[in-house]
Amino acid sequence: MFKTLRSSLRFRRFRLGRTTRQLERAANIADLRVMAKRRLPGGVFDYIDGAAEDERTLARNASAYADYEFVPRVLRDVSSIDSTTILFGKKIAFPFVLAPTGFTRIAHSQGELAVARAAQRAGIPYTLSTLGTRSIEEVAEVNSASKWFQVYVWKDRGLVTEMIDRAAESGYETLCITVDLAVFGRRERDVRRGFTLPPKVGLDTIVDAARRPSWTVDFLRGGPIRFASVATRNSDGDIGDGSEAVSLAEFTTAQLDASLSWTDLEQFRDQWHGPIVVKGIQCVEDARIAADLGVDGLALSNHGGRQLEGSPAPIALLPPVADAVGDRVELICDGGIRRGSDIVKAVALGATAAMGGRAYLYGLGAAGERGVDTALGFLRSEYERCLALNGVTSTADVHSGMVTASR
Ligand SMILES: Cc1cc2nc3c(=O)[nH]c(=O)nc-3n(C[C@H](O)[C@H](O)[C@H](O)COP(=O)(O)O)c2cc1C
Repeated sequence: MFKTLRSSLRFRRFRLGRTTRQLERAANIADLRVMAKRRLPGGVFDYIDGAAEDERTLARNASAYADYEFVPRVLRDVSSIDSTTILFGKKIAFPFVLAPTGFTRIAHSQGELAVARAAQRAGIPYTLSTLGTRSIEEVAEVNSASKWFQVYVWKDRGLVTEMIDRAAESGYETLCITVDLAVFGRRERDVRRGFTLPPKVGLDTIVDAARRPSWTVDFLRGGPIRFASVATRNSDGDIGDGSEAVSLAEFTTAQLDASLSWTDLEQFRDQWHGPIVVKGIQCVEDARIAADLGVDGLALSNHGGRQLEGSPAPIALLPPVADAVGDRVELICDGGIRRGSDIVKAVALGATAAMGGRAYLYGLGAAGERGVDTALGFLRSEYERCLALNGVTSTADVHSGMVTASR
């Protein structure tokens, strides 16, 4: 009996540091989400995790992947898997792009720098948001590989023009224009908490922060947060660069141009010489209009359920859009990606790549840069395992016959 016990006892090597231990035990993105929830103050976690109104669109974005199942093939030599793909003429390690997320330093003081470095290590593109808390130039210093710049169209068009020029000078390859934020979606978790960016310090925030010491120490050491690429140019100057605590709804209403329309897109074509992706396409008709305008890519996206409640899940929209314009533009399926198998389904249904925000933000919130590495590692290994278990050896061989609608 003693012999059996001795041969079956296996202790994990004890690691110093609670985060390291928890990270080693995490098995998937959902586990990183749980870790992030423990480390971040409630308001910060809800800012990342939450979405518009009843959050049905958020839930549906992810659950819609389960509407498809695989048609696996066996007894095909899958001893070597090539996960790479070509996106806008450039080879990337696997078909995933890190989506733009504003105010990333709220999750961890390294913010966009941590995420941009992790993306470079993973060999996939990183998209810096206009509302980034590290500037266009700061991010370019730590990522010499594939970088995209996301544009919100400010009322101050001069500012937009300047930012685009700076992105081109700093080596960003692709311009991603987000078009689903004409007005701000009502994110009710933030409304209930009176959440502002940066967070306002009140009694409730102090209590919350005291219960999250690791986040609080990191946040206080990190220096003031602001929209680092945005200069304060408005004449009344009171909301400006995001260094004052404001609700994001208040900020976007004051700063962003709700009158933006299709004709404005042409201006970007004239100014930007690399690929242009329109992010926030939510129906086939708009996909056609954008393709007719000659953009290079469309991100089928409802902003991770944070804008219009009731917008279709990107994976559900993908097959009809691929039928309509898939031969003219690259399609990117953005939203609800929590597994590598979700990426396989997106590629099988016609996307060149998938895109995601929360998957890496949970990693960042859980453990900073190491957490982002872990999140991207999960997505890539799950992607490769899923290909192998489907009897497919490369991204190039992924095809529509690999998936079927679940019964
Ligand atoms: C915290 C957070 C901030 C975001 N900020 C931006 C942004 O600044 N610009 C933008 O185009 N999209 C933004 N998005 C939307 C993401 O780019 C992406 O569309 C969304 O996260 C996809 O859904 P997923 O989180 O389920 O992957 C944000 C999303 C989150 C969660």
